[in-house]
Parts: sequence; C-alpha cells; structure tokens
Amino acid sequence: MVYFIFKSRSEFRNSRKNILIFFFRLLSIIAFILTWSYFIFLCLLHFKTNNNSLQNLSKQQGQTCRIQSPESIKIDYNNIYWQRFQSSNGTFFFYNAFYDDRTLNGALSTIRILSMIDRISPIKIYCRIWFSNISNSIITLADYHYIWSQQWGNYEDKILQPFLINCPFPRQKHLQPYFVSLFEKDCTEITNNLQIINNRPLNKNKQSFAVCVKGLEFLHDDLSIRLIEWIELLNILGVKKIFFYEFDIHPNMSKVLQYYQNETKLVHVQKLSLPGSQPNSPLERKKYLQQKIIHRRQNEIIPYNDCYYKNIYLYDYIVLLDIDEIIIPLQHLNWLDMIYDLEKYFANINQSYDALSARHIYFLDNLDENNNTIQSNLSIVPSYLHMLTHIYRSFNYTKSGSYIKSFFHTERILAVHNHYPLICFSKCQTREINVTLAHLQHYRKDCVYLLQKSCQNDHRLNRIRDTNIWRFKNSLIQRTSLLLRKLNFLR
Ligand SMILES: *[C@@H]1O[C@H](CO)[C@@H](O)[C@H](O)[C@H]1NC(C)=O
Ligand SMILES: *[C@@H]1O[C@H](CO)[C@@H](O)[C@H](O)[C@H]1NC(C)=O
Ligand SMILES: *[C@@H]1O[C@H](CO)[C@@H](O)[C@H](O)[C@H]1NC(C)=O
Ligand SMILES: *[C@@H]1O[C@H](CO)[C@@H](O)[C@H](O)[C@H]1NC(C)=O
Ligand SMILES: *[C@@H]1O[C@H](CO)[C@@H](O)[C@H](O)[C@H]1NC(C)=O
Ligand SMILES: *[C@@H]1O[C@H](CO)[C@@H](O)[C@H](O)[C@H]1NC(C)=O
Ligand SMILES: *[C@@H]1O[C@H](CO)[C@@H](O)[C@H](O)[C@H]1NC(C)=O
Ligand SMILES: *[C@@H]1O[C@H](CO)[C@@H](O)[C@H](O)[C@H]1NC(C)=O
Ligand SMILES: *[C@@H]1O[C@H](CO)[C@@H](O)[C@H](O)[C@H]1NC(C)=O
Ligand SMILES: *[C@@H]1O[C@H](CO)[C@@H](O)[C@H](O)[C@H]1NC(C)=O
Repeated sequence: MVYFIFKSRSEFRNSRKNILIFFFRLLSIIAFILTWSYFIFLCLLHFKTNNNSLQNLSKQQGQTCRIQSPESIKIDYNNIYWQRFQSSNGTFFFYNAFYDDRTLNGALSTIRILSMIDRISPIKIYCRIWFSNISNSIITLADYHYIWSQQWGNYEDKILQPFLINCPFPRQKHLQPYFVSLFEKDCTEITNNLQIINNRPLNKNKQSFAVCVKGLEFLHDDLSIRLIEWIELLNILGVKKIFFYEFDIHPNMSKVLQYYQNETKLVHVQKLSLPGSQPNSPLERKKYLQQKIIHRRQNEIIPYNDCYYKNIYLYDYIVLLDIDEIIIPLQHLNWLDMIYDLEKYFANINQSYDALSARHIYFLDNLDENNNTIQSNLSIVPSYLHMLTHIYRSFNYTKSGSYIKSFFHTERILAVHNHYPLICFSKCQTREINVTLAHLQHYRKDCVYLLQKSCQNDHRLNRIRDTNIWRFKNSLIQRTSLLLRKLNFLR
C-alpha cells in the first residue's frame, strides 16, 4: 500500500507542505555548510603555512624569530636587474613580481614572480608577503608554472629555465601587498625582496593596445630609419604605447627611442641583462644570443611576460612584435575597428578566446627583381622607407599557426609565448583572424633558417603585389619625414 499512505486530502496537503518545508530546510543547511567550509578553507590556506613556520621558529630558537624585510644593502643582486636566491638545491634568479587579482583568479589574489631557475622541478619554497603599514607579513606556499615546453629543447637541470612562481593568498580588501621575499626555511636570513608591481590606470579605463618588443640586440646595425617608420605606422594603427627591452643598440637607434620616450611618451625603454653566469659584455652577449638559440628563446620569455604583467590592468590587448613585423588590417583603417568587429563576430557565434592571431606572410627583399613593371608608382615613396617600398610578398602564407603573432587578452592569460598564449586560466583558446581581415607582414632579407631550403619554391617563386600598406602612405610619409628632419637624419 505504498501508494496510499495519506488517509485524507487535508492530511495529504499538510504533508506536502511539510515535505516542502523539509526540503527548504535541507537546502538552507547545505548552503550553510558549503559557505562555511569555503570560508574555513580560505582561513586554513591563510594560516596553515603561517602557523607551521611560526611553530618551527619556536622550536629552532626557543622563541619566535623576528624576521624583518631585508634592507637593500643586504640583497643578493645579480647583473643589475635580477636578485639571486641560493636554495639547498638550485639557484633562483628573480626578475619582477606582480600583483594579480584579475576576476578569473577568483577569491584568491596571487603574487607572480618572473624567474629563471637552474632546475626543471624546483624545490618547495615559501613566499613572505609584506603589506604596507603593518609590521607582520603572511607566509604562503609557492607553486610553479613552467613557462617553456619540454619539446623546445634545453629541458635539463643546470640550464636556466623560465618559471612563473605563484604565491596565492586570500584577497585582502584593505591591505596592499608591497614586497615579497622567497625562502626555503624560515628564520634563515632573507636576502631577496621584490617590490610588487601593480600598475593601475589613473582614470580606471583601460586603453586598447600596447606592443612589446623583446631585448633589442643591434649593436652594429643602424636600423634607426626603419625603426621610425615602424613606430609611426603602429601609432597610425592605434597603438598607444610601445615597450622596448634593450640589450645593446646603435647610438642612432638610441637617439630615436629617446626622442619618443622623452617627447611623445609613445615609447618606453627598459634596459635588460641576462641572469646568472651568462655573458653581459656587449660583444660576448651578442655572440651568445646568436649562437645559443634555445638559450636565447628561454631568456626571451622573461621580457615578454614582464611586459604582459606590467600592463594587464592598463590595456585590453598586448601584442608582441619584432621591429620587422607589422599586423596590417586589410579592411579597417586601424586595429581598434578591426578588433571591435572580431569581438562582435565571436560573441555572435558564442566563442570565447584568449588570443586572436594574425597569419604570417613574408615580404622578402628583392622579390621585385627581374620585373620592370613593378617599379611603377614607387617614385612617390621615399626610397628610405623600407615597408612602403617593399610591396611584393609571397603568394602563400606560412602554414596556419606557424610564425603567427597574437593579440593577447589581458584578462585571461597566465603566461605568454612569442606566438601564442602558453598558460591561461582555463584551456588556452587562440582564434585565427581571417586573412581577409588582417595578416602579419614580415620584412626579411630571407626566410628564417628553418624554412631556407623551401624558401625559393614556397615563398619566392609565387609572389604578388600587395599595396595594402599604401592606405597609410600619406600620413606615414609625412610623419617620418618630419621626424627625420627634426633628428637631423636627412641630408
Ligand atoms: C616545520 O617542521 C616540520 C617538522 O618539524 C616540517 O615537516 C615542516 O616542513 C616545517 N615547516 C616549515 C615551513 O619549515
Ligand atoms: C636536487 O633535486 C633534484 C630534482 O630536481 C634531485 O634529482 C636531486 O637528487 C636533488 N639533489 C639533492 C642534493 O638533494
Ligand atoms: C600607518 O597608518 C596609520 C593610520 O592609518 C598612519 O597614521 C601611519 O602614518 C601609517 N604609517 C606608515 C608607515 O605608513
Ligand atoms: C632624453 O632624456 C634623457 C634623460 O632625461 C636625456 O639624457 C637625453 O639626452 C634625452 N634625449 C633626447 C633625444 O631628447
Ligand atoms: C554559449 O555557450 C555556452 C557554453 O559555452 C552555453 O552554455 C550557452 O547556452 C551558449 N549560448 C548560446 C546563445 O548559444
Ligand atoms: C611582374 O609584375 C607584374 C605586375 O605585378 C606581374 O603581372 C608579372 O607577372 C611579373 N613578372 C614576373 C616575371 O614576375
Ligand atoms: C599608378 O598610379 C596611377 C595614378 O596614381 C594609377 O592610376 C595606377 O593604377 C598606378 N599603377 C599601379 C601599377 O599601381
Ligand atoms: C603555394 O601556392 C601554390 C599556388 O600558387 C600552390 O600550388 C602550392 O601548393 C602552394 N604551396 C604550398 C607549400 O602551400
Ligand atoms: C574568411 O572570410 C571569407 C570572406 O569573408 C569567407 O568566405 C571565408 O569562409 C572565411 N574563412 C574562414 C576560415 O572563416
Ligand atoms: C648614424 O650614426 C653614424 C655615426 O655613428 C652616422 O655616420 C650616420 O650618418 C648616422 N645615420 C643617420 C641616418 O643619421
């Protein structure tokens, strides 16, 4: 008689009410338990490591040791821009530390430290985060993101490997983290202390684009005029700021960058060095970077990600470019209009993305040789403007996904690589921009080393005229000639 347990309609109604109340209470209890367990989890995260180490301190010293933020003269500096930390198993080089409380980080804030470490699996270390205006600090366990891939080579101990060290802690509403030190065993003297970078816009609004350029190494080549053409074109396309990292450059290029930095604020230049025992005298470093290609690429990860993290709150997108590359929109007159249309397009088809990538196409030197008809109309362009006078490109794009450059979304990525995002809050999604909308024009003497065998067939034989860049010709010629005269570069 399972089906007839109710004797009357009213009893049935009452029980139904009771059942509803019962379920409502059950739900409240579950919600209550969940909320509290989450809260307790956060507290544990906060205090566990802290208490642990405090207990250990008492054990070791018979009293709590007073750790103080190290004075600058006690810091173990390395090659000017780095700090060294010698652990019991591996040497760490810290470059910069950043405050990450982006929405996708959830209830946690994270201090992220860009580093090179001479181990593939570094040992367990702790972060001590110092807050402004309070003497005490908190301690959290660090975790690692390896910002390289085993397949790319140099996957071995002793060679410096790029890492992002993460120090997560519960978000603090009224406390601002100012410094971070890393250590292995508490109560030992701390000899590293990194100021936590947390660049915010003055008016709360993000700007659209910044471009970052890895460490410039042009000791003898004078590319100053090409540099001017490139910077002006980026500015015409809507780039608000270009961040350069610099090893060594020709004095003429230096003059150009200083002009932009001093007079227009369009450019920011930051000196860079290689950490550890890698060479830093100009000639030796140049040779090293030319010959040790994998080491060079591992080192390049640092400026790429440094530039990304410095700007996560300031720009919507970061683009990493070399000074011989430019992303040309083919239907719009600037990047902003193009990205705006792409954002609408992907929202319409309900697809999210961490990066939008532009296909790579070669504009090689001498593609116009043996062809007299090509030279027509070039006379109106000054011959010293490299991009405006190189209007022949390969017919074929390099293959999809190779040598691309991306617009990196600043809300969604944890680590960037030269071409695409390496680590994202969720699985990285890079969407390719249709070649009818934009492509990456790469101006080179010849193909990159890996493609040199097939260069003649794939990239030189089939060529076409592509004057898309001429849509920006008038303002580009005007701006460059004005500046060249100003800097006395035109005779
Ligand atoms: C504290 O000491 C215990 C053992 O005494 C050890 O397992 C633990 O790793 C230590 N914690 C820290 C933070 O040094
Ligand atoms: C150092 O760490 C590596 C793993 O990264 C391990 O294989 C090695 O045994 C450790 N050496 C010492 C002395 O603990
Ligand atoms: C710390 O905060 C108090 C009160 O807000 C203020 O009076 C004091 O000057 C601050 N000290 C420092 C070092 O900022
Ligand atoms: C730019 O500013 C720096 C530092 O103030 C100065 O040394 C340099 O001469 C300036 N260069 C130019 C081109 O204005
Ligand atoms: C968009 O995608 C999400 C999951 O990716 C899905 O839940 C949602 O229903 C989709 N919306 C539309 C309008 O297709
Ligand atoms: C020369 O250029 C013209 C115009 O782009 C093209 O039609 C022609 O095929 C080219 N000739 C050679 C030999 O490449
Ligand atoms: C050269 O310029 C003229 C007028 O500016 C134009 O009509 C012609 O199509 C151009 N020729 C080429 C090959 O672009
Ligand atoms: C390059 O384009 C030509 C058509 O012009 C095509 O026949 C050839 O297969 C392409 N090569 C590659 C490597 O895609
Ligand atoms: C690129 O755009 C063209 C024209 O708008 C369209 O025909 C083509 O299907 C698109 N390709 C891809 C891969 O979306
Ligand atoms: C660059 O500097 C050199 C001297 O180092 C000078 O002779 C040359 O004319 C300069 N180039 C330009 C374009 O001004």
